[in-house]
Amino acid sequence: MIFRQLFHQETGTYSYVLASRKGGEALLIDGVLDRTDRYMQLLEELDLRLVKVLDTHVHADHITAMGELRDRTKCVTVMGAEAPVDVVSMRVQDGDMVTIEGIQLETLYTPGHTIDSYCYRMDGRVFTGDTLLIRGSGRTDFQSGDSRAAYESIFTRLLTLPGDTLVYPGHDYKGDTVSTIAEEKAFNPRLQVANADEYADIMDNLNLADPKMMDVVVPANIAMGLGQSDTKDPDWALTVGQLMALQEQSKFALVDLREDSERAANGQIPGSVHAPYGRLENLIGDGGLLHGMAGASAKPLVYYCAYGERSAMTVHASQRAGLENVSHLIGGIAAWIKAGGPIEKI
Ligand SMILES: [Fe+2]
Repeated sequence: MIFRQLFHQETGTYSYVLASRKGGEALLIDGVLDRTDRYMQLLEELDLRLVKVLDTHVHADHITAMGELRDRTKCVTVMGAEAPVDVVSMRVQDGDMVTIEGIQLETLYTPGHTIDSYCYRMDGRVFTGDTLLIRGSGRTDFQSGDSRAAYESIFTRLLTLPGDTLVYPGHDYKGDTVSTIAEEKAFNPRLQVANADEYADIMDNLNLADPKMMDVVVPANIAMGLGQSDTKDPDWALTVGQLMALQEQSKFALVDLREDSERAANGQIPGSVHAPYGRLENLIGDGGLLHGMAGASAKPLVYYCAYGERSAMTVHASQRAGLENVSHLIGGIAAWIKAGGPIEKI
């Protein structure tokens, strides 16, 4: 396994690169925007292809690299279901797996530091974001933080993991890099409490100043979605209403770009062909499924995904690959479901 812990000095932020092999797929957790060049260089040096970026929560102290990395690498942006961001490619809930080649991360919903705080667990390690820090824990006084929820998340979700599980936090301000669940249980001063009331008493009386850049950073991190339509060329993007009107004539082929797990959880728009975004290069290249569909049939292709980000990127990639007559559904299947569109279980 390839594992790198990267540090952003100014904000004490840790970011993580995971991959199962040289030449394979990579995942990046909690990237910082002004370190993007460094991540890109490292990925190149290690011969890795970034396919997913994940943030443990909406950060208040630094601008996330997610949007920039998506724009540069066409990777999939992943956040938890509760994250108040405008658009991400994929949202995960407690128990969902975030998967890349050879690696699976289990999603743990751990609200408290913020309402949208999630931890991610894989064999022997857990990425705790700001939920649990080394000999500390994330503050609970903004972004819908809740000290009692934090207590529950830490004590029932994290401290119940095997004691030798390695703890990789989202921050450290003292130079520590890694701990274990057993160490934190024994030595984390915030965790030496008898109940949620005692923990809340500590957390509710920290009287910390707001992070310096919070008023700029939080809005930036919330509005990082990819533009899904533009006024100059409106033909490549369909609203749900437009798609519903067209569907009655069945004059197009619908293509679902989501992963198997997303399709199993939410179903598909009836009559869709499945073409997962992770295999896009093969699918749109010579001999690929989408290449064939676009060439052989007179029917235009309409791509959709969960929220419209992967499908918008697929339209652009298809056009670059010479596929004509492709468009996508703005807002993805989430918008379709919200509008009452029919769904077929997989
Ligand atoms: Fe945070």
